[in-house]
Amino acid sequence: PRRVVTGIQPTGELHIGNYFGAIRRCVRLQEQGDDLMIFIADLHSLTTRQEPARLQARVLELAACVLAAGADPARCVLFVQSAVPRHAELCWLLTCLATHARLAHLPQYKEKAAAMKEVPLGLLLYPVLQAADVLLYGGTHVPVGADQVQHLQVAAALARTFAHRYGRAFPAPRALLADDGSDRLRSLRNPNKKMSKSDTDPKSRILLTDPDDIIELKIRKAVTDFTPQVTFEPETRPGVSNLVSIHCLAEDKLPEEVVQEAEGLSTAQYKRVVAAALQRELAPVRARARAAALAGLR
Ligand code: TYM
Repeated sequence: PRRVVTGIQPTGELHIGNYFGAIRRCVRLQEQGDDLMIFIADLHSLTTRQEPARLQARVLELAACVLAAGADPARCVLFVQSAVPRHAELCWLLTCLATHARLAHLPQYKEKAAAMKEVPLGLLLYPVLQAADVLLYGGTHVPVGADQVQHLQVAAALARTFAHRYGRAFPAPRALLADDGSDRLRSLRNPNKKMSKSDTDPKSRILLTDPDDIIELKIRKAVTDFTPQVTFEPETRPGVSNLVSIHCLAEDKLPEEVVQEAEGLSTAQYKRVVAAALQRELAPVRARARAAALAGLR
């Protein structure tokens, strides 16, 4: 049987990459009757410095957003990672099977470690904890963005090593990627980079909580190129293509459809169309998130 497991870090505010790339896809899997677990990966957040009270508040904010996006506790399991001590326990068992060489070789680790003077061990072990998160529940399919594929390869390798050493205990999980462009939304300021919570430029991402005027502003300032036509060519025109992807996700359309509809529009005019589509998709989620957050405070 198929079991879907995924985690989201409560570090920084959710952006539309997290929403379209992971959360909304989970909600759709739930609608189709999949066996689904979503958790808030607060232990993973501790790999970078956190202010405890702030982190606790963010866990609740994230829970409110996930509920607002349509996760239904009657049909899926929504929980906080640190409330289940077995994540850390299984992590230790897997740590003894993981090799330093493999972990130190992962690009995300190398990039983050290179920017630090003192590298916490947790940063190196990050993918092992992520493996524990999935293996603990016998997870088979993990809906994530493309940035998590290598982490899931580590998880699958650890499941196999565990089977060799101790006997088969866990299925090897795999990343469940989307085919609609949602697994790789790009930065609005530099379309060669992914949209990221940790980017220092707030205009590089649209937050789930951004009001309509900010959505409009960020889309208007999005970096494109010097060709005015709207086309979908992710390799050669990543900026405009990213806007097309966002538009498609907001309206559940295919790139060909939206490109055809945009015929005759300049990219500047097209940006208004994209902003409007995104505003329509996000407004109800934002309103429900605010209501859920307020209810949580009472
Ligand atoms: P996190 O919190 O960085 O991101 C949450 C989810 O959003 C996806 N994502 C994107 N998708 C499309 N385009 C983007 N620009 C974009 N940016 C982020 C991520 O791929 C992710 O699916 N390590 C994980 C959290 C985690 C986890 C797990 C995931 C901990 N344990 C077990 C799956 C299974 C992370 O940092 O996600």
